[in-house]
Amino acid sequence: MRFHLEWRGALGATLALLATPVGAVETSPEAKGAAIAIRDCGGCHAVGSDGVSAVSGAPAFRDLGKRYNVGDLAESLAEGISVGHPMMPVVAYSPQEVEELIAYLRGLQLSLPPTPGR
Ligand code: HEC
Repeated sequence: MRFHLEWRGALGATLALLATPVGAVETSPEAKGAAIAIRDCGGCHAVGSDGVSAVSGAPAFRDLGKRYNVGDLAESLAEGISVGHPMMPVVAYSPQEVEELIAYLRGLQLSLPPTPGR
């Protein structure tokens, strides 16, 4: 397990509340997960089915499945990840948000494009 788990207790709960979307709309878990990924991770990581990460060294999310069982991220996300380096923000998600984020990441791995010249 390379993830550094940090239990942030009350702080984590507060962050999870802050991360709760305003005006919850009926959308698929994947779509909600995509929104979370874009909002919280897209500043550094390529979060879509193509594109290049804004921060060099940040793995494109579509490639995570090559190195991890994406489901293993769930536990880390729920407890507040700091994925082993100083640039990563520590965000604690609610169980529902974790499910959504993982659902999105899972779908992304399956929809791997044939990588045309990138
Ligand atoms: C401030 C920029 C930044 C943000 C925001 C960010 N990341 Fe990262 N992330 C990175 C960088 C840079 C790396 C590469 C770190 C390394 O290999 O040392 C990384 C690596 C990772 C890894 C792989 C870790 C490993 O051990 O190889 C995962 C998984 C990950 N990030 C998930 C996320 C998720 C999920 C989010 C949103 C909740 C997120 N990141 C937001 C910069 C960021």
